[in-house]
Amino acid sequence: MRIKVRQALTAEQPLAGITIAGWVRTRRDAKGFSFVEVNDGSGFKNLQIVVDHTVPGAEALADTLTGASVLCQGDLMASPAKGQKWELKATSFQLLGRADETFPLQKKGHTVEFLRTIPHLRARTNRLGSMMRVRSRMAMAVHQFFQQRGFAYVHTPIITASDCEGAGELFRVTTLDPLAPAKLPDGKVDWSADFFARQSYLTVSGQLEGETLACALGDIYTFGPTFRAENSQTSRHASEFWMIEPEMAFCDLAGDMQCAEDLVKTLVKSALEQCSEELEFFNAYVDKTLLQRLQLVVERPFARVSYTDAVEILLKSGRAFTYPVVWGENLQSEHERFLTEEHFKSPVTVHDYPRAAKPFYMRQNEDGRTVAAMDVLVPGVGEIVGGSQREERLDRLVAAMTAQGLDLEAYRWYTDLRRYGTVPHAGFGLGFERLLMFVTGEGNIRDVLAYPRTPGHA
Ligand code: 4AD
Ligand code: MG
Repeated sequence: MRIKVRQALTAEQPLAGITIAGWVRTRRDAKGFSFVEVNDGSGFKNLQIVVDHTVPGAEALADTLTGASVLCQGDLMASPAKGQKWELKATSFQLLGRADETFPLQKKGHTVEFLRTIPHLRARTNRLGSMMRVRSRMAMAVHQFFQQRGFAYVHTPIITASDCEGAGELFRVTTLDPLAPAKLPDGKVDWSADFFARQSYLTVSGQLEGETLACALGDIYTFGPTFRAENSQTSRHASEFWMIEPEMAFCDLAGDMQCAEDLVKTLVKSALEQCSEELEFFNAYVDKTLLQRLQLVVERPFARVSYTDAVEILLKSGRAFTYPVVWGENLQSEHERFLTEEHFKSPVTVHDYPRAAKPFYMRQNEDGRTVAAMDVLVPGVGEIVGGSQREERLDRLVAAMTAQGLDLEAYRWYTDLRRYGTVPHAGFGLGFERLLMFVTGEGNIRDVLAYPRTPGHA
């Protein structure tokens, strides 16, 4: 029976007659036998296989280089070697797939920049393999968090005709011939001849559709891919990323902030519990302060500060920022990082942002100049969550939409929520890749996605 390396390494007792399959990390030859270190992707650690040169198939050993795939039968026994409890004593050896010396992942360490040039192979390294396992378990932890709280998992469309964030950073979806699109008599493109008979795009956020479902099901969340055609060449922006977007009916900004804090804390806690081997690896090789920082995140409440007070703190800091701090402007990444890394030295939720800097859907505060928005900022990454209470008052919403130049008829379905049984509601978006950067200490979003898409790279 085939068992995974991870199961073998955590066995309670010796196991006779098992099968192990995997990829060779190293082979060392001794007189009469060889040590073959095998990893099958089930976990961080390799299993050592001791292959006596007399077992069936052993003649292929000389051809078994780093990167080859092998299948071995044998008995799992206590290992006399230091640092490992078990090893497999092979009774047969089979070389499944050869790899020659050109296999790019030889034993020596590789830079992340080099690994990015071989995305199809890099998951076989400790660094990317660990990331992919953390990613998988974190995805499950997201579902657990919401399912335990009675949220419905909904699937909002990926192709949409609306621009939720109003930033115009949309990828167009079209079947028109780019060289000869159908045209109107005035020479403009005739979008009614396009596939969806109107202009359509890849979604930047499932929020607007999410709101309609929350105003039917109560509490919902989405967890899906989102796309942004923003030309940001930074270590924290991807053109295709995954977002978790809860939306809660009968909820205000305070409830929204609490939910975001609980979610981030719960996810960090489950990473510490369920990915301990991987996190120890990241702590040793990527960021030496990682485990200590994550422990503090779990233990202490997040700091909270209004945008207006945050601006005061930044102005009083005496820092020479590249971008000036001006009330009314969005906080720049250097400002966010100062707040979370140096001033509060903890995650911080900034709330009540200036209205002019934010999209139409955010609830207007009574001061006439701010909206009930909030962002969660974390050390090392900056913004990880963005959300708000939504404007549930029809007149205020319509005024904001008109002011931002939206086509009221096209968003009729959205304003209908405010015509029929409107309720206070709130939600947020958590960037899944930003979360993964935070829990692993990985500094570049290109190293938390298997196949990162960024401007100029698909
Ligand atoms: O702050 P954002 O733009 O908010 C929204 O899209 C809201 N509609 C969400 C909501 O209220 N339902 O994006 C939310 C989060 C950010 O805080 C960030 O973590 C992540 O999504 N994000 C990105 N992650 C990677 N690459 C990008 N280009 C990202 N843009 C946003
Ligand atoms: Mg944001």
